[in-house]
Amino acid sequence: MDFTSQFWIYLILIGTVLSLLFVVVLAYRNQHTGSAANETTGHVWDEDLTEYDNPLPAWWLYLLYLTVIFGAVYLVLYPGMLPNGGFLNWTQLGQYEAEISEANQAYAETMEAYGQSTPSELAKNPQAMKTAARLFSQNCALCHGSDARGAPGIPNLRDDDWIYDSSPDAILTTILDGRYGVMPGWEAVLGGREASEDVANYVLQLSGEVVNVDSAKRGEAKYKTICAACHGIDGKGNPLLGGMNLTDRIWVHGGSFEQIVDVISNGVTSQMPAHRNILGKTKSKLLAGYVLSISD
Ligand code: HEC
Ligand code: HEC
Repeated sequence: MDFTSQFWIYLILIGTVLSLLFVVVLAYRNQHTGSAANETTGHVWDEDLTEYDNPLPAWWLYLLYLTVIFGAVYLVLYPGMLPNGGFLNWTQLGQYEAEISEANQAYAETMEAYGQSTPSELAKNPQAMKTAARLFSQNCALCHGSDARGAPGIPNLRDDDWIYDSSPDAILTTILDGRYGVMPGWEAVLGGREASEDVANYVLQLSGEVVNVDSAKRGEAKYKTICAACHGIDGKGNPLLGGMNLTDRIWVHGGSFEQIVDVISNGVTSQMPAHRNILGKTKSKLLAGYVLSISD
């Protein structure tokens, strides 16, 4: 509470001092005027109940004086008697700030050490991975899911299937600079919806699905002239272009016949946002370590 004038502070101060003095004087008087001769106070209750007027025991009195002295010293040292926080100048806010700055210092030192490590080293450091898991849920889970298993259009980070290079450095690059995967739409080039369906059948055949063999046969030639440039002649993908592996039965954009025809006809673009300016290098390294640690 803010006191608008010093008046109230001094009033409370005087009140406190007076009541402390009052307690001491009362105790002192009792010690020196109380009779030692087992006299009673003269009051009688219930016909025969009387009260001795003996001095208080010495040990009790000294304990009382001690608490009074303790109280007075405490009130002078800490905020209580004096305005502005007492002789020690202690404030709740001051203590809070001191604790925060201590914690920040420790945090900065830990982060400094992480900054000197590689993602692979961090992946083996349980303490670092605890921090990384928190960073993941704050920055990545929104898209990749809290369990990092992805969502339609967003890759699973727990499996051993990678769109891009999966070396620790490449994963760090993905996080720092982002990735932009562009699959153009091919319907016009291929010559219509039916041609897209032929290529889709061929794509499904690549991953061992049972399909319309004649249609797949027609698709194969088109695949080899158009698609192989980005997805490889064998369909196993090209990590440099982000051309996904089409043979592993892992579909980021859906694996039904209709969904595959749709991707081939209309194309799809995906963006992994750059995190260099959001997280900086050390936190991105922690996350690269995290991705390494959770993937098979
Ligand atoms: C806005 C959504 C979004 C956010 C946020 C996001 N990602 Fe991504 N991420 C994607 C998409 C989409 C892709 C696929 C990009 C592509 O296909 O070109 C991707 C790809 C990746 C890849 C490459 C996977 C592979 O198979 O090569 C990694 C690694 C990755 N993200 C890690 C992270 C980490 C770590 C974070 C948190 C810092 C994060 N992502 C935050 C959407 C997101
Ligand atoms: C210019 C390079 C390029 C060419 C040519 C290309 N693609 Fe793609 N394709 C990509 C990229 C990049 C992606 C990943 C898009 C993303 O990151 O979401 C992709 C994604 C796909 C997917 C989705 C895979 C999944 O897991 O969901 C299919 C299916 C596909 N392509 C089939 C084809 C077929 C069939 C052709 C030929 C008609 C073709 N692509 C030609 C670059 C290409």
